[in-house]
Amino acid sequence: MARLTSRELTGRMTTQHTETQATERTTVLVLGGTGKTGRRVADRLSRAGHPVRIGSRSGETPFDWEDPRTWEPALDGAAAAYIAYYPDVCDPGAAATLRAFAERAAERGTRRLVLLSARGVEAALPAEEAVRVPGVAATVLRASWFFQNFDEGILRDGVLDGEIVFPAGDVKEPFVDADDIAEVAVAALTGDGAGDRTYEITGPRLLTFAEAATEIAGATGRAVRYVPVSAESYGAALVRDHGLPDELGAFLTELFATLLDGRNAHLTDDVRRVLGREPGDFADFVRRAARGGVWAG
Ligand SMILES: NC(=O)c1ccc[n+]([C@@H]2O[C@H](COP(=O)([O-])OP(=O)(O)OC[C@H]3O[C@@H](n4cnc5c(N)ncnc54)[C@H](OP(=O)(O)O)[C@@H]3O)[C@@H](O)[C@H]2O)c1
Repeated sequence: MARLTSRELTGRMTTQHTETQATERTTVLVLGGTGKTGRRVADRLSRAGHPVRIGSRSGETPFDWEDPRTWEPALDGAAAAYIAYYPDVCDPGAAATLRAFAERAAERGTRRLVLLSARGVEAALPAEEAVRVPGVAATVLRASWFFQNFDEGILRDGVLDGEIVFPAGDVKEPFVDADDIAEVAVAALTGDGAGDRTYEITGPRLLTFAEAATEIAGATGRAVRYVPVSAESYGAALVRDHGLPDELGAFLTELFATLLDGRNAHLTDDVRRVLGREPGDFADFVRRAARGGVWAG
């Protein structure tokens, strides 16, 4: 085998070192990576060639917000992390937990954090502030209600029952596609230039829950209607019929009453500014979901 000159050897070692660094530095931890947005973030990152670590209680990297011993192994070597906090970014305990996590991330060398937050709600502000720690560029995505609440989330059973019972009155909401949230998140996690940023992510159209139900009915051929109820009776039903603890029922009652009072009934152009295209429309989502058979059962 031909011997290498010391110059060639140094060159090779530098290249190898850089390659190792490049691989390590692009590893992205995706928390809530089995959920509605996290799964989509992880898919996009993988397709773009980034090493992805899915962190959740059932994910391939065990991660539990309630067990800080699981945090460091998940953060090890991760250049960036996407955070879909559970149970909710507005939860009274969220800020303290997120601050402890962000500090741990900064110590371990993670340089970008992207937090999924909720739009137009003061209770989310402490959690947003908590991820802004020195040495880390933090992006906050204030998202509207996801389309996917209707096929993967809390409204799916209502669609299947033919009655979406929910405390939203006739308020208009700029429902947004979780795919768009994920694409904006990936841009913030891996794109050029990183700094502290806040985006308000909405869809392209304001819809009442009744109009959303009508669109689903039209695409599926099922009878689906929206039944407005008060936040109080909705919260009580969650406790009575679904076994939620009283405290969580009260928290959700308060949260829905706040979020769904019309404060978010306007659109932003943040998806277009980041992605250079319009956000996906509810009608396309409904067609896709109906074709996929998710509402067939
Ligand atoms: N849904 C919306 O319309 C909406 C709008 C704006 C903002 N958000 C925000 O989105 C966040 C996620 O809510 P989501 O309802 O959409 O849930 P989701 O992300 O669809 O699902 C929850 C995810 O969290 C994981 N998880 C649950 N408990 C955990 C724990 N103790 N430790 C670590 N991971 C845990 C779950 O996986 P495992 O079960 O495997 O742990 C799953 O991956 C919330 O902070 C909410 O405020 C939601």
